[in-house]
Order: sequence, then C-alpha cells, then structure tokens
Amino acid sequence: MQTPTASEDHSTIHHDFTSEIETGLLAQSASISPKFLYDALGSHLFTAITLLPEYYPTSTEKNIFTQYQAQIAQAVGTGGTFIDLGAGNCQKAEFFFNALKPSAYVAIDFSVEYLQEAVKKLAEKYPHILMQYLGMDFSKQLLIPSSVATTKRTFFYPGSSLGNFLSTEALTLLSQIKGQAHAGGLLLGVDLMKEDSVLIAAYDDPLKVTAAFNLNILRSVNTHLGSNFKVEQFRHVVKINHAEHRVELYLEALEDLTVSWSGNSKSFKKGDLIHTENSHKYTTDSIKQLLTNAGFETTQIWTDPKDYFAVIYAH
Ligand code: TRP
Repeated sequence: MQTPTASEDHSTIHHDFTSEIETGLLAQSASISPKFLYDALGSHLFTAITLLPEYYPTSTEKNIFTQYQAQIAQAVGTGGTFIDLGAGNCQKAEFFFNALKPSAYVAIDFSVEYLQEAVKKLAEKYPHILMQYLGMDFSKQLLIPSSVATTKRTFFYPGSSLGNFLSTEALTLLSQIKGQAHAGGLLLGVDLMKEDSVLIAAYDDPLKVTAAFNLNILRSVNTHLGSNFKVEQFRHVVKINHAEHRVELYLEALEDLTVSWSGNSKSFKKGDLIHTENSHKYTTDSIKQLLTNAGFETTQIWTDPKDYFAVIYAH
C-alpha cells in the first residue's frame, strides 16, 4: 500500500479565522462564510443531505455520470493527474478511477481531517494510484503545489459547488483552473435553474437534515471564535432570489439576543438574518459563457431528461 502524502496548505492548518468571522458577523447584513459549514459534524451532515431524496443534485449528477461514463471518459481521456476540488468523502472521484485510470489522485478540501480518513481508505483500495491530499481554502486562491505533476491535470469540480461563489469569484476560480490544467481540462457539475418548489424541497427537507446542517455553522463558529451562539435561538430559512438566479440560505433569530466573544459582541433583533450560503443555478448557455470568459475553448455538456443538472467537460 502506498501511504498518501499530506501536502499541508498552511493557510488552512495554521490560519486563524477569527477576524474573517468577526467581520462577517459585525457587518450590518451579518454573514458567515459557508466554508465554516464543513466542520467534522457538518461534513457528515452534508453527506446525509446528499442521501435525501429531495436533494436532487447528487442523485441527478450520479445518474448523468453513470449514463454517460463512456462518453465522459472519451472526452477527458485516460491517465494524468485527477485533481478533486472539494473532495469530501472522495466517492465521486472513485467512481471515475476505472474509466479514467489516473496515475495520480490529488484530493483537496477545506475539511482536512475528514479528507484524510477518506484518502487513507482509498489508497488501500487503489495501491497503483499515487495519492495526495491537501487542506486548502481555494475560495481565496487555487494554487496547486509544484509536487503535483503538470502533465495532463484533470480538475474535477462536481456537485455544483461552483454555484456557491458569486459570478466574479467563479470566474476567478475557473481562470485559475484553466491556468493550471496544462494539457488537461475541467470536469464540472453545475445545477440548472428550475421551478421553485423543487429548489425549496431540496434546501428545506422535511426531515430537517438541511436545517441541522445550516444551524451547525453556529457551533462551528463558536469553536473558532469562542462565541456563545445557541442554535435553539435560530431557524433555517431558504429564499429564492430570481433576479440573481440563486437559492439563498440564512439563519433567522427567533428572539432578540446578544452573542459575545472575546472583546466583542453582536446583538440580533427577532427576525434578523445571518446569511450563510448562496447556491447559484445556471442555464447551459450561462455556464458555457462563464467557461468561455475564463479561457476555456471547448465544452461538452451532458444533462438529465428533466434538465435539472449539467455535467461539463471543458478544456
Ligand atoms: N453546495 C451545496 C449546494 O449549494 C451546499 C448546500 C446544500 C447547503 N444544502 C445547503 C448550504 C443548505 C447551506 C445550507 O447545493
């Protein structure tokens, strides 16, 4: 067995997120960066979300991967380095190992402890694939270390995580991917615009797993900041912003309250909102345009019969 190597991005391991969280909380429209959703418990809750029948993105994307695996493999080609952005439990990448036969796999995620476990298991199963994992906050900057081979890098960014960025940020990330792909390209999954009822069910499921996932960000913040948020004083809220083509996730204060942490505090009135996530939805035209703007020359698109989701290979 090959032991996976950890190339630690020190911005994640040693960086102190206190000031980033404080700035967001103290702003007039309070917000918390969605990366703080993915602490150890949050990562498990998100995996549970992906198993919900209402959360169509994961199952729809999986169906597209399965139905078009041969065509996707033909577009992407075999060999090279498979770089998984936001790898999580690495399951989606594993699905492509046999078809794409990468010689190396690089798993990148903000939640490095969760990632480490997943990559260790994978390394035992696929001893012939060189494996690396990296803790990185690529919402700031994507910088693939020089230890990763430059011949044919296939970036893998499934699950419509791209939609969690504003379009300017998405453009920056896509340009950085294009700049570091060399002879390779990008295999991308994006969620498409659809009727409100389907979106609401996906982001506010009746089992309340998504509510738990969103509320858990307050505990994650308590850990980083030493604050005293009480999850029972908030509720999970979903809004559809048609003008911006996105689902917006918030936590709403259920009563007047004050949260404090070392040297600072923030008061919320009943009904005040903390913004935690945007999930942009695309059309096949809007995502093609974004990829073109980022410097990609060709795109191939696969969708499901309902046009809920799109898988794209761009290079
Ligand atoms: N990237 C996921 C998405 O936008 C994250 C997500 C799913 C999420 N459900 C959520 C984030 C609820 C916050 C709250 O689909």
